[in-house]
Amino acid sequence: MMRQLFIALLLFVPLMASAAEGTVPFHFDPNLSNEASLQRGAKLFMNYCSGCHSLQYMRYQRIGDDLGIPDDVVENNLLMTGGKIGDTIQASMPAEKAAEWFGKAPPDLSLESRARGADWIYSFLMSFYLDDSRPSGVNNVVLANTAMPAVLAPLQGFQALKKDEGGHAEEGGEGEHAAPRFDLVQKGQMNSAEYERAVGDITNFLVYVGEPAQLVRYSLGFKVLIFLLIFTGLAYMLKREFWRDVH
Ligand code: HEC
Repeated sequence: MMRQLFIALLLFVPLMASAAEGTVPFHFDPNLSNEASLQRGAKLFMNYCSGCHSLQYMRYQRIGDDLGIPDDVVENNLLMTGGKIGDTIQASMPAEKAAEWFGKAPPDLSLESRARGADWIYSFLMSFYLDDSRPSGVNNVVLANTAMPAVLAPLQGFQALKKDEGGHAEEGGEGEHAAPRFDLVQKGQMNSAEYERAVGDITNFLVYVGEPAQLVRYSLGFKVLIFLLIFTGLAYMLKREFWRDVH
């Protein structure tokens, strides 16, 4: 009985947590075999995200090796912090400073795709909108009152939540993927198709970054299994040894 209750609780808690968050209006299918997309995503991440976010389980060298980017290109195009190719990816801004400036430290994003999922990351980056009441001038549909500024606005431009005739924010569709509608009120460098591709590339890259960590966990699980097998074998032999004289 206790056990069922415990399992029910375990299942329930993430549900509660996700219900408390905002909507996730967009869907994105990651494709880790699209190397060109992953390369573009890596470049965009280094340019627009690594100022604030670290990827503490990922090294530049590893990205280069996995994504087929030659060392010199990694050094000249991805290494923004003046570090070495063997380094893990650290945010250029010290976390305490960022916490002071934005009111919240930007989290490490190594495991973000595992914690939030691709739809969430993609939707978050698509859903910044103008909001005068916020210190950063923007808000986000997915993470309400987020401390993150609209760092991709130079590419996307600025959008406003579309209002219906009564002045209320419009909701499109129904259910979890109910898409709020946005109006682009100031153009960025990219058109909407280009921006969607860029956000897809960044999301794809973060899904890839979450994968190697998963591989480490798999191989640990595998070692534990081997250990248990050997241990069981030993226990069995011991048992036979002990009981030999009894029979
Ligand atoms: C100027 C600093 C800054 C930059 C640059 C920045 N972020 Fe953020 N980011 C933040 C802060 C601060 C938070 C915490 C927001 C909060 O919890 O309200 C955050 C939160 C996030 C989250 C949500 C984490 C979570 O699960 O709660 C994601 C995902 C994210 N950032 C992705 C990105 C990506 C991708 C880029 C590059 C396109 C980027 N960020 C660039 C400051 C930044």
